[in-house]
Order: sequence, then structure tokens, then C-alpha cells
Amino acid sequence: MGFSNDFVWGVATSSYQIEGAAFEDGKGLSIWDTYSHEPGKVFEGHHGDVACDHYHRYKEDIRLMAELGVKAYRFSVSWPRVLPEGTGAVNEKGIAFYSDLVDEMLKYGITPYLTLYHWDMPYELYKRGGWLNPDMPRWFAEYAALIAERLGDRVKNYMTFNEPQVFIGLAFVDGVHAPGHRYTRQETLLMAHHVMLAHGLAAQAIRGKVADARIGYAPTSNVPVPVTMEERDVEAARRAYFEMPENGDWSWNTAWWSDPIVLGHYPEDGVKILEKDMPKIGQDDMKIIHQPLDFYGQNIYRGEPVRAGEDGKAIHVPYPEGSPKTAIGWHVNFDCLYWGTRFLYERYQKPIFITENGMSSHDWVHLDGKVHDPQRIDYLQRHLQWLKKAAEEGVDIAGYFQWSFMDNFEWARGYHDRFGIVYVDYQTQERIPKDSFYWYQQLIRENGENL
Ligand code: BGC
Repeated sequence: MGFSNDFVWGVATSSYQIEGAAFEDGKGLSIWDTYSHEPGKVFEGHHGDVACDHYHRYKEDIRLMAELGVKAYRFSVSWPRVLPEGTGAVNEKGIAFYSDLVDEMLKYGITPYLTLYHWDMPYELYKRGGWLNPDMPRWFAEYAALIAERLGDRVKNYMTFNEPQVFIGLAFVDGVHAPGHRYTRQETLLMAHHVMLAHGLAAQAIRGKVADARIGYAPTSNVPVPVTMEERDVEAARRAYFEMPENGDWSWNTAWWSDPIVLGHYPEDGVKILEKDMPKIGQDDMKIIHQPLDFYGQNIYRGEPVRAGEDGKAIHVPYPEGSPKTAIGWHVNFDCLYWGTRFLYERYQKPIFITENGMSSHDWVHLDGKVHDPQRIDYLQRHLQWLKKAAEEGVDIAGYFQWSFMDNFEWARGYHDRFGIVYVDYQTQERIPKDSFYWYQQLIRENGENL
């Protein structure tokens, strides 16, 4: 058995990366609206003011998705588009946009998978401290309730957060994403705790409005991949995936971000190492954080080859010179989807969605007017072969969302990298399906049998 008959083949995007219409129809500012306009922050001064102009062209985009044959579309809602101040007054035009978008999907039988937070925090809430503010979880739950109330008759699948590792890690620990300030370890651990509380309160709020809602979470990780199938190496990789590094570099630690949510407690080894910087944990906090999870999402793009050292601990194996990299500069390990899903399933025992996986390359329109992207096809094919192997071995894999449906604003790298299976000409807004689009279309038709 490979992929189940009800396997969810999908594509993913996010609001700030594609919508544009940054200052239209009553939308409030997000931290990416302000950050991207600060000189020197984003590659060549790019910003998402217009992006793919999806706000005005969503019908055309959904029609293309229908042609692609996807069963599901993972998109995100821009919090400040619906609540311009983050809390309080509702922007009805913003709600209307998402409501129409959902109707358009349903018209073609495409199931919506809605992410509440893909990094575009309302600027007004940032001014009030953002994730440092203890009211933030409550504000997030208010926003979640609003979305559930207005869209919940049609949207049943929700993900609270996309990649907290990045919007806390790269943003607040490293300072290279919006809002661009670095904070202390104490502060960032407190923010992380608030994010997890927000997840829990939002899950409760959604379930309060939509009885048959299915709730997930979409963190990310680079997966330690064993360089051999020998049990020693496999065990070393498994440990490295979840273990807190001795230097306490916590912001990309898989267990730190997922154990509280799925298992109801912080990982012991991490608590020991981080003890003096840990936030005060309220009496009910862990209960709030630990809400039933219907599925576990994970964005996986990369692996990190490891082998077992003398003491059984993982040692990083350097990449050989000239080994393959994508345009963004990421090394390629096709088996990361296999090891990632296998290790996650062993630990968390939830149906797994790959909520993002895909490849950036420097695509352009060829002389024949088409966009040929054989490397992306090979990348997707070989990753999916490994994912299929995991499914065949009994890992419960419910779906796969390719990142991304179309080229878009790639955060600090602006329009430098193209991840889409649909090419976007940013001057004319023309969409051109790439060769990989047609390859994926065929794969979906055959439910991956042809891999
Ligand atoms: C994010 C996407 C991003 C992609 C490629 C993920 O980190 O969720 O928003 O475009 O990776 O960098």
C-alpha cells in the first residue's frame, strides 16, 4: 500500500507572500508591511505591496488549482486584514475576501486548509509588545473565534501557527525577519510560551464555534538523516531530532515546540538546560496548551546527514564539495521526508501532513514561451518516493502540500527565489504553469502510483 485513496494532495501559499492589496479595503498594517519598507531589510528593497496581486486575481488562481486537480488548498488569513488593530473592530471587507475565496474553492471541490498565523502579525499589536504581551494569547483566540464564526460553516481544517521556529527564531532570536529586533533568551522563551498558549486557546475557541473542526499545527524542522540504515546511525539521528543541544540553542528544537502541544509538557532535557531563563508557567498553562490535535503538520525542506559517534551521539557528516543545492542555497536530502515523518510519528502518533515541501530555482520563460523546471520535478519526485516508502511502512501520512502553488514574495529574499509550480511574471501578473505543474497534475491523477 502506498498513499491511501483519500490521501490529500494539495498546494500551499500564505497571505503576505501572495495577496498584495496591502493598503486596500480597510486592511491594517502587519509587521511585514512596515519591515519590508525599511531600507536594507529585504533583498533589493522588495516588498509585498502587490506581490502576486492574488487579492484581485484569486478567481483565476483557484481556477488554475482546479485544473491542477488538487484536493486541498492550504492558505493563510492575514490577521490585520480582518482585524486591522488586531483586536476589536472587524473589517467586513477583509472577511468578505476570505469568504469569497473559500466559496471559490468549494465551487471546484477544493477543500480549504486554513492557517491562522503565517507571520503577518498586526503592527498595532506589535506596538503593544506583540508576543511578549501576556494578552497576546487572548487576542489570538479572539481572532480565531472570529474566523471560525464567519468561515466555520465551510472551513473545517485549521492550523494555528506556521513555523513558530521561524517567526520566533529568525525574527526575535536572530533578528533577520520582521520586526527585526533581537531579544534575550528569557524574552524569546516567554514569547514561545505565549505562542503555545495562543495555540491552545485558539483551538478551544474554534471548537467552541465549529463542532466538527479538525485542528492541527504546522511547525518546521531540518531532519537529521542517518547516512546508513544501521540501527546505531538511525538511533543517533532520532535522538538528534528531539534532543536539546547542550548549548541551549532551543529555537529550532523539535521537542521544545511540539512536546508541550502534543504531549502536554516541555521536554525534560531542555528544561534542565534552560531552567534559569524559563518563563513562569501558570498552573493551568500546560492544560491549555495541550488541546486534542486532529493532525500534526510539519514543513520539511531539508535534512542534515548524521552518523553515530563513539558515544552513540550524532555527528554531523559534512556535505561533499559540489553536492546539490537549490537556488536558495539549501542542500538537498531526498530522504528527509522519510526520516522526518517516521521519527515524528513514532513520537507523536498523530496523522501527519507534510504542510510544506518544495524547491526554489531560478526559473524563467524559455524561448518557446514555457517554463521548463526539470530539477523541481526531480526534487519533488524523489522526495515523494521517500514519503511513499514511509507510508508503505505504516507511517500514517494523511496528505502533502507542495510549496508553493505559485512564485511569491520569499520574505527577506524578496522575489529572488521562485518556489512555485506556477510562474508569476511580476510585471504583467501573468501566470504560466511550469512543467512541474503538469507533472504534479499527473501524479495526483494517479495518486502517486507512478512515482
Ligand atoms: C515558509 C514559507 C517560505 C518557505 C520557503 C517556509 O519557511 O513557511 O513561507 O516561503 O519556507 O522559504
